[in-house]
Amino acid sequence: MPSPTVIKAFCRELLVKQTALREQEPDLVMDDPEKVAAYTRAGCEDGVMAPVYLFHCAQICEVIKSGDIVLDLGCGPATQLAMVARLNPRTQFIGMDLSEEMLNKAQAHIKQRNLTNVEFRQGDITELSSLADASIDAVMSTVVLHHLPDLTALEGTFAEIKRVLKPGGGLYLVDFGHLKSEKSIRDFAYQYADRQAELFTLDYLYSLRAAFWPQDFFSLYQKYLAGCGNFYKTFVMPYMMVVKSGVRREIDPDLLDQLQELKRAMPGYHQTDLKDLMLFFRLGGLKSPYLN
Ligand SMILES: C[S@@+](CC[C@H](N)C(=O)[O-])C[C@H]1O[C@@H](n2cnc3c(N)ncnc32)[C@H](O)[C@@H]1O
Repeated sequence: MPSPTVIKAFCRELLVKQTALREQEPDLVMDDPEKVAAYTRAGCEDGVMAPVYLFHCAQICEVIKSGDIVLDLGCGPATQLAMVARLNPRTQFIGMDLSEEMLNKAQAHIKQRNLTNVEFRQGDITELSSLADASIDAVMSTVVLHHLPDLTALEGTFAEIKRVLKPGGGLYLVDFGHLKSEKSIRDFAYQYADRQAELFTLDYLYSLRAAFWPQDFFSLYQKYLAGCGNFYKTFVMPYMMVVKSGVRREIDPDLLDQLQELKRAMPGYHQTDLKDLMLFFRLGGLKSPYLN
C-alpha cells in the first residue's frame, strides 16, 4: 500500500489544474563537490535511491545483450551504471557525462568494484559528434534529461540518440515528469528528508521542478524515438516517464536470481518503495518481470 503522502499526491494530481511551472536546474552540470558527494551517497546500496536504481537496472537488463556496446548518457557517479555492468559482465559500457567531478567519482566507483567492462568519456549528451551513425547497440539514461535547459536541448538529445543507435537497438530512458502542483512536488521531495542529506533533498526538489511536462516530452518522443521504443509513465501521476525499446533477450535465470537476491537484501522500507514504483508503472503499462 503506497504511503499516505503518495496517496494524497495521487488524489491531488488527479483533481487539480496545472499551477506549477518548469524551473531550470540551478546546476545543469553537477560539479559541486559537496552536491556530487551527497548524490553519490544517495545512490549507494543502502541509499535512498537504491529501490529506484534496482527497478531501472532490471528494466535496462531486458534491453541489453552480451557483446553489446551500451552508452549511458549522463552517467553521473556511475552508481546505477555499475549495478547494470556488474550483472552484465560480457557487455561493454561507455559512461558519458560533462562533469569532471562526477567522472572522477565514477572512475573510483568502478575501480572499487573491480569492473573492467566500463569506460568513461567527458561529453555533452546533446551533441554526440564523437560517435558515428548507428554505432551503438543500446542507449541508457537515468534521471538526466531534466538537467537540460530547454526543449531545444531535449530535442537535440533525442535526435542524437536516434542517430547513434543501431536499428533494432536497445533503449531505456527514464526521467522525472513534471507534476501539476507545487505541493505534490514538495511532498515528494521531502518524503524521505529524514533518511537523506539535506543537499540531496534540495537536489531532488530542484529536479522535480526542472522535470519536463509529459506532453512536451511525449511530443519529442513521437518525433524522434517512436520507432525505437514505447513511451510509459507512472499511472495518473507522471512523476516518472520511460522510453523503452522491445525486450532483446530471453529471461535469464541467473540474472533473475541475482536481481531477486538484490531485492531480498533491501531493508523493508526500500522494498515498499520498490513495490510502489512497480505498481505505478505496471498500471501505466510497464511490467517488471525480473522483480515480481
Ligand atoms: C541526476 S544525475 C544522474 C546520474 C546517473 N545517471 C544516475 O542515475 O545516478 C545527472 C547527471 O547528468 C549530467 N549532465 C547534465 N547535463 C549534461 C549534458 N548536457 N551532457 C552530459 N551530462 C550532463 C550531470 O553532470 C549529472 O552527472
